[in-house]
Amino acid sequence: MHVESVEAATNIKIHWMNLVGHSLKLLNSPYPKTNYTFVDRPEFPFVNKIALPKPIDRKISYDQVITSRHSKREYFGPLDLTELSSLLWDVLKIKKIEVDHNGTVSWIHRGAPSAGGLASVDAFITNIAGYNDKLFFYNPYDHSLQELNVTPAKVKEVINASNELIDVSHATLFIYAAHVTNIFSKYENPESLIWRDVGAIYAMMNLSSESLNLDSCSLGTTFHPLLPKVLGTEGLLFGVGGQIFGKREHDIRTI
Ligand SMILES: Cc1cc2nc3c(=O)[nH]c(=O)nc-3n(C[C@H](O)[C@H](O)[C@H](O)COP(=O)(O)O)c2cc1C
Repeated sequence: MHVESVEAATNIKIHWMNLVGHSLKLLNSPYPKTNYTFVDRPEFPFVNKIALPKPIDRKISYDQVITSRHSKREYFGPLDLTELSSLLWDVLKIKKIEVDHNGTVSWIHRGAPSAGGLASVDAFITNIAGYNDKLFFYNPYDHSLQELNVTPAKVKEVINASNELIDVSHATLFIYAAHVTNIFSKYENPESLIWRDVGAIYAMMNLSSESLNLDSCSLGTTFHPLLPKVLGTEGLLFGVGGQIFGKREHDIRTI
């Protein structure tokens, strides 16, 4: 680096000293426990179940998806069931389950990679076209949406939390939650694995959304402790992030 003067050099030094003051709070490195039995996600009582339709068959090239993806914060309508089905199938649908010699689950495979093959992070969804004021759990085993027994006032609380950041009134909101029991059963220091699982989901969802000609934006907020409070699952489930998806202004679908 070419530095013009002693004064400029001093300023650069001060700048770096300030940065060093902000040390990153590192999470401890995880390691697997010797004794572990698979613990599945808890069952959520539901009042209605929607079987999702077949995902959309896309013809868009991977190059085009990678080149055109970017975050958008203005939306022109919430997702319909076919669009939702496609996103969820691509990223969260459990496609294969490995079972050990005792018949217990040993590894789960879905679109997004997950630490220890546990698929510990699930999606809760609200603001689906035609289903206002309802909160759904995505069941990744049978590819269905389970309508949860949550009052419209509580659903509104969740939507308001998103509206404070980005207006979600013409879009669909996904909230991600980690089932901590299974990942804490398998690993010592599992915290960083949960955050990295969410990062993998974010990236895959953004790419899937682009392939569907939808707009999306990731959110920094975790929806914690709001989501477990709304669901009455404090201590079992942790809000770990969210994303918004919506239709584009012009339907320039190339798929
Ligand atoms: C973990 C994470 C959190 C984010 N949080 C927000 C947010 O709260 N609000 C927002 O408008 N954008 C948010 N974004 C989107 C970024 O601002 C966006 O990715 C960045 O500006 C780069 O733009 P691009 O996605 O179009 O490439 C987030 C992205 C990530 C990966």
